[in-house]
Amino acid sequence: MHAVVRFFGAFLAAAMLAPASGMQKVISQYGETIIVPCNNGDNKPSDLIFTKWKYTKDDGSSGDLLVKQAQKDDAKVSATDGYKDRINITDNSSLLITKATLGDQRVFTCMVVSINNLDEYPVEVEVRKRPSAPEIKNKASQLENDKLTPLGECVTADANPPAEIIWLKNNKTLLNDNKTVIITPNIATDPVTGLSSTKSSLQYTAGKQDMTSQFACLVRHVTGPDQVTAPVAFSIHYPTEKVSLQVVPASTVKEGDNVTLKCQADGNPPPTSLNFHIKGKKVAVTGSGVYTLSGVTRADSGEYKCSLPDNDKIEATATVTVTYLDLSLIPSGRVLKKYGESLEVKVEKNSSSEPTVTWTKNNSKLEKQPDFSKLTYGHAGMYVCEMSVAGIKRSASFHLVVEGIPVITRLTKQQSTDGKNKVLICEAEGSPQPNVQWSVNGTNSESSYVNGKATYRLTVVPTMNLTVTCQVANNLGLDSKTINVSSLIDDRRKEKQDLPEDEDKAKLIVGVVVGLLVAAAVVGIIYWLYMKRRQGSWKTGEKEMGTSEESKKLEENSHRPDV
Ligand SMILES: *[C@@H]1O[C@H](CO)[C@@H](O)[C@H](O)[C@H]1NC(C)=O
Ligand SMILES: *[C@@H]1O[C@H](CO)[C@@H](O)[C@H](O)[C@H]1NC(C)=O
Ligand SMILES: *[C@@H]1O[C@H](CO)[C@@H](O)[C@H](O)[C@H]1NC(C)=O
Ligand SMILES: *[C@@H]1O[C@H](CO)[C@@H](O)[C@H](O)[C@H]1NC(C)=O
Ligand SMILES: *[C@@H]1O[C@H](CO)[C@@H](O)[C@H](O)[C@H]1NC(C)=O
Ligand SMILES: *[C@@H]1O[C@H](CO)[C@@H](O)[C@H](O)[C@H]1NC(C)=O
Ligand SMILES: *[C@@H]1O[C@H](CO)[C@@H](O)[C@H](O)[C@H]1NC(C)=O
Ligand SMILES: *[C@@H]1O[C@H](CO)[C@@H](O)[C@H](O)[C@H]1NC(C)=O
Ligand SMILES: *[C@@H]1O[C@H](CO)[C@@H](O)[C@H](O)[C@H]1NC(C)=O
Ligand SMILES: *[C@@H]1O[C@H](CO)[C@@H](O)[C@H](O)[C@H]1NC(C)=O
Repeated sequence: MHAVVRFFGAFLAAAMLAPASGMQKVISQYGETIIVPCNNGDNKPSDLIFTKWKYTKDDGSSGDLLVKQAQKDDAKVSATDGYKDRINITDNSSLLITKATLGDQRVFTCMVVSINNLDEYPVEVEVRKRPSAPEIKNKASQLENDKLTPLGECVTADANPPAEIIWLKNNKTLLNDNKTVIITPNIATDPVTGLSSTKSSLQYTAGKQDMTSQFACLVRHVTGPDQVTAPVAFSIHYPTEKVSLQVVPASTVKEGDNVTLKCQADGNPPPTSLNFHIKGKKVAVTGSGVYTLSGVTRADSGEYKCSLPDNDKIEATATVTVTYLDLSLIPSGRVLKKYGESLEVKVEKNSSSEPTVTWTKNNSKLEKQPDFSKLTYGHAGMYVCEMSVAGIKRSASFHLVVEGIPVITRLTKQQSTDGKNKVLICEAEGSPQPNVQWSVNGTNSESSYVNGKATYRLTVVPTMNLTVTCQVANNLGLDSKTINVSSLIDDRRKEKQDLPEDEDKAKLIVGVVVGLLVAAAVVGIIYWLYMKRRQGSWKTGEKEMGTSEESKKLEENSHRPDV
């Protein structure tokens, strides 16, 4: 049916039906030309005299329209009313009526008059008009939750027959239940054109779920497919039932941080003002419901609340925990102590939770807090204590300096391998770094100083027996020691007697002996030489004075208390 209408479309737009009465029916579109057929084209008997079209007036009487003589080309219009300028007849005797109006909905009769007959073919004309696209008017700005609210009016104009309006929510038909949904239709007819305009008012009870609902209005009409408005959505107003309070940052808050309290109400629209309960004080905050605690301290830890200004019972609670860490270290700065003294180190802390503690000395990690019950030069250095709890790090430090009068720990001599000179080694402890003074002139004077231990070297070429004094001194005091050094000339003489100069030489020979032993070829000779050397040594009892002095010193040193 619709397809047919569309097929004839713009120019003819007519369709034929056979009504129950048996009378033929023609449907035409408003404003277009109506074609009223005469006996479906079978209307030209051979003895035709003329064809005449007439119509039935509103009062039931008959009115003439036109007459066409069989022999003539033109028809004679006999109408005197509005039809006078709107009608014509086709070659197959169809009546044409231009600019169809609703007034043309009546019965037109074709009279075929021949010599032997007079036939009448009445045709009923119906004029249809497709309604305008629907529009939603007087749209509500928002809907009240759980309250019947006029949502809008849907209008569609100038239809015939009247159009039907259907409200849709999410593409589903909304049905009137006279309670939560009330749909009031209204049809108005234009007194001039007779066309109908349909209006439908929708009152709707929204729920929160309708925040996402899409409303649309659909117009249904015999003339064609449904016409639908673009969907519209509404904001639903509902009161706040719950507030929530959020702390940002949600993770650890440390002293100095800025903390934001965000209070949110679930109503729509949200309340314009909210109350924050800050440390027993009520603070009204308008706008977005944000309260900022800037630069928090440990005193800001605790419970916070927010509530509705007009209803304290609707409230939310949040806890803020501010982590903190204070560290104080006694002593601090530069600490000067004497060798052998003790140093008490006091670490005091206040923290929100047990901190992790690390100690470093000169940037290298220590296992634990150092023990300074008896200070040595090795204790000197930069000490740093670092503590940390959740995101906070604190450190404190002191620079320990250990001072002491220099003490010579060892005074030894070594003959160079070529036997041309002797190296004197004077080892001492003391801080600040002691200066050395030798009682003899020498060459290649060297010194090193590490952790309070000083080592001084001096190379001498003794041409005679020497008594050498090593003296070490700093601003706190001095120490000295003496060593006897035999002349190189005497040494050479002794060498000729195959006597070892000192332990080193002996060791060297032992090394050679061992090498020979390994060779295993001359075991007997080696054994003999070995025995001979030992005999010689015991026989002469020759031993460097310095060597015995040296071992004595070493022994002394190992027993000496640390001062
Ligand atoms: C009469 O002629 C027109 C073309 O002039 C045609 O469209 C129409 O179908 C014809 N009517 C009948 C009933 O044959
Ligand atoms: C009626 O139609 C004929 C052709 O079918 C045309 O020649 C004539 O001018 C038309 N008359 C009117 C009044 O339109
Ligand atoms: C309604 O139906 C149309 C097409 O039929 C579709 O595009 C639209 O997404 C649907 N809307 C909803 C809310 O389902
Ligand atoms: C709504 O009320 C009208 C009259 O007030 C009644 O005709 C109609 O049947 C009712 N509809 C429903 C669904 O109750
Ligand atoms: C806290 O906020 C102030 C401005 O209100 C800003 O200057 C400061 O840098 C912020 N502090 C932190 C730790 O973000
Ligand atoms: C720790 O807190 C107490 C009491 O508030 C205070 O007296 C002390 O000085 C604090 N200690 C440190 C290391 O800040
Ligand atoms: C530690 O540093 C100090 C200077 O800060 C330095 O005198 C000392 O020798 C260093 N100690 C160690 C063990 O490196
Ligand atoms: C060491 O040499 C200086 C000159 O370089 C000289 O004055 C001094 O007497 C010498 N001392 C000894 C002990 O030989
Ligand atoms: C050097 O001392 C040694 C004993 O240690 C002695 O035998 C030698 O004669 C002395 N030489 C001189 C030149 O005094
Ligand atoms: C050094 O030799 C002298 C004699 O030449 C002697 O009196 C003195 O005790 C010796 N010193 C040492 C430390 O052996």
